[in-house]
Amino acid sequence: MVAALVDDHRDKLLPNEQPAIARAVEKRVREFATGRHLARRALELLGLPPAAIPSGQAREPLWPTGCIGSITHTEELAIAAVAADSALRSVGIDLEVVDRVTPELHARLLTPRECDLLPDADPSIPGLLFSAKEAGYKAVNPLVGQFIGFQEAEVDVDWAGRCFKLRYTGEHEPNRVMQQGQGFFCFFERYVFTLFIIR
Ligand SMILES: CC(C)(COP(=O)(O)OP(=O)(O)OC[C@H]1O[C@@H](n2cnc3c(N)ncnc32)[C@H](O)[C@@H]1OP(=O)(O)O)[C@@H](O)C(=O)NCCC(=O)NCCS
Repeated sequence: MVAALVDDHRDKLLPNEQPAIARAVEKRVREFATGRHLARRALELLGLPPAAIPSGQAREPLWPTGCIGSITHTEELAIAAVAADSALRSVGIDLEVVDRVTPELHARLLTPRECDLLPDADPSIPGLLFSAKEAGYKAVNPLVGQFIGFQEAEVDVDWAGRCFKLRYTGEHEPNRVMQQGQGFFCFFERYVFTLFIIR
């Protein structure tokens, strides 16, 4: 896993990565290019050549043969995680500014059960639940290829273990692979970071 501040890395993009940002605004170009730059650093750490990582139809990164991985970025920070596909079936990572999930968003991003369990005083928990679902989606979507709505997954947090499980409650059977995964989280500065792996 490699992390860095978002910067102008557009000159390091490879030709078949560029269509993804052909009409993008400056902020998006910087975030996308930093993610690709970090992903190549992560490939290098695994002893792999600096391959292109184009984007698929659902915007998922298309990793070189033999690898799986995930990318996340905010305006300030980017992280890329890469592993050999012999080590893990899939991985998803997500970084969020922790207070981004304001009360007006709860009903859309959290299930009624999750809303009921929210402690009144802690504004960081909705951010964690949201981030956990996004990390889970990033791990499951490349395997299954089907969109998952925020009402179709529930997060069970183990606070002592700093980890979580995801329960898929929707109708598309292959998405139940989500239940085989394991999530981990940490809070730092103004962020929550989540990692979801499927072995
Ligand atoms: C795709 C999504 C998860 C991205 O999250 P985000 O907070 O907007 O942005 P992040 O910076 O954390 O992540 C963006 C990166 O995710 C990756 N990504 C995007 N779509 C993806 C997908 N379908 N599968 C895997 N990774 C994906 C990309 O690498 C992208 O960066 P890039 O376009 O520069 O390559 C989000 O926009 C989305 O569509 N969510 C709806 C589905 C969902 O999360 N459901 C939860 C229920 S389980």
